[in-house]
Amino acid sequence: MNIAIVIHTSSGHTLKFAQAIRDKLVSLGHEVDLTGLRTIGTVNTGIIPLVRVNFSIKNPPELEEFDTVLVGGPVWGFKASPVIMRYLIEDVQNLKGKRALSFVTMSLSGGGRALRMMNGELEAAGAEVLEGEALKSFFMPKDLKLSAPVERICGRVCGQ
Ligand SMILES: Cc1cc2nc3c(=O)[nH]c(=O)nc-3n(C[C@H](O)[C@H](O)[C@H](O)COP(=O)(O)O)c2cc1C
Repeated sequence: MNIAIVIHTSSGHTLKFAQAIRDKLVSLGHEVDLTGLRTIGTVNTGIIPLVRVNFSIKNPPELEEFDTVLVGGPVWGFKASPVIMRYLIEDVQNLKGKRALSFVTMSLSGGGRALRMMNGELEAAGAEVLEGEALKSFFMPKDLKLSAPVERICGRVCGQ
């Protein structure tokens, strides 16, 4: 399979998770393209909703060539990353015939809501959405328990 992984990461937790997913999928014989979204401008963290800031995404990847699309990001203010949401809303229009899966990292809570937000956009674009994963990064990086969620994601992606 040709698989895209598109993430937003600020402090690197989601990147570590994404790299572990990529490494596992590559070891299973898949082609994997991992992109970290880069932004210009100030991203509103969602913590102070009235602050007027704006940003754009420098490098939104095209997804046409991929069979499966994974999107990941941090939970901010009990919601999905505004960068991932902007990418999904503005740059991802047609995922018909593709499978998709969301994953998030968070300190403690808000992952379920963040996954629902991301999955809503993936469904709206026509993807078949697989069950996602929310990983607690509170004890990162030393104690991050990556292997079980990575196995679950790769199992779903590979149809096991
Ligand atoms: C602005 C901001 C808001 C956050 N809000 C939440 C939150 O609502 N719930 C939570 O569990 N963690 C929250 N966190 C922690 C991050 O979700 C967590 O550290 C995540 O793993 C960071 O991922 P990253 O290193 O890929 O950026 C927040 C962090 C930041 C910087």
